[in-house]
Amino acid sequence: MSNPSLLILPGDGIGPEVMAEVRRIIDWYGDKRGLKFDVSEDLVGGCAYDAHGTPLHDDTMAKAQEVDAVLLGAVGGPKYDALDFSLKPERGLLRLRKEMDLYANLRPAQCFDALAEFSSLKTDVVAGLDIMIVRELTSGIYFGEPRGIIEEGNERVGINTQRYTESEIDRVARSAFELAMRRDKKLCSMEKANVMESGVLWREVVTEVSKDYPEVELSHMYADAGAMQLTRWPKQFDVIVTDNLFGDLLSDLAAMLTGSLGMLPSASLGAPMANGRPKALYEPVHGSAPDIAGQGKANPIACILSFAMALRYSFDAGDEADRLEAAVNAVLANGLRTADLLGQEGVEPVSTAEMGDAVLSALDASL
Ligand code: IPM
Ligand code: MG
Repeated sequence: MSNPSLLILPGDGIGPEVMAEVRRIIDWYGDKRGLKFDVSEDLVGGCAYDAHGTPLHDDTMAKAQEVDAVLLGAVGGPKYDALDFSLKPERGLLRLRKEMDLYANLRPAQCFDALAEFSSLKTDVVAGLDIMIVRELTSGIYFGEPRGIIEEGNERVGINTQRYTESEIDRVARSAFELAMRRDKKLCSMEKANVMESGVLWREVVTEVSKDYPEVELSHMYADAGAMQLTRWPKQFDVIVTDNLFGDLLSDLAAMLTGSLGMLPSASLGAPMANGRPKALYEPVHGSAPDIAGQGKANPIACILSFAMALRYSFDAGDEADRLEAAVNAVLANGLRTADLLGQEGVEPVSTAEMGDAVLSALDASL
């Protein structure tokens, strides 16, 4: 049988630097664990625009549809701010999500013991935190029509449309319930049914789906109250399911509870392919951080943990994902910190590559 295939899209800013460390880890799994991947690499975002005049070339899109999983670094940068909307780096990422139909975006917010003190919240509020946000990723206001900026009378009007079909809500709700079954069997659905019809429908459909998962304790919350509860006492949650825009906001909020955006991975999953694996794209939650790009300062952990999610959700290698997550934990427990995690005086930051070295040594030590 041929090796599973991986398409690597490092993207812009710190993307290439953090992805370089992931490539070393992928090689480690090939050498030491016999888990070999056929890896190819391509462009997405601003670098694709520079090379081809589009943030995602059709050939790259076609490749992404064929591989077993896509691993993406980050897209965007100030250099591209003036570009027409349709050519912006972010459009490349959004096209991947939409055309691969990656409707369920899993964003864990996990607080690493060694980092609890870096949270802006009190340590006891976040220590041991382990929640999962399931964000709908291919519909809602990000994609709804009509959209645009139109002339009306003597002024312009900006328009976006929040739109959800029952089937779109149903499938992401099922993903969330399935996850809840494998975790603490607790799911909180967030919308604004008090002001939005799409929220009313969302609540109805999620409630309907819950009948197929009687073991899962379902609750509903307005998304604004959800944001408040997430900062007040985040450990009341286990799995949260919400729409595209609320999920974008709430996942950044949840991420920061854990101390640093530089730590958090994500998985975007679609329907199963012919080989049974879900269509999948894995990426860190952080952005391209152009201010520190190219300086070897970036934290590669979110991208490394995104590969761990790929091992778990695409390659049926949960044990190997556990191994990689434990290696990251061990490195942090040893006190290693990239610059984004520094809070203590007298601790020298390590570089992106040094963090990668340390994770590789911890992997070696795990054998
Ligand atoms: C995210 C990002 C993206 C989004 C941007 C880069 C298009 O903020 O993945 O959360 O808004 O979905
Ligand atoms: Mg976001």
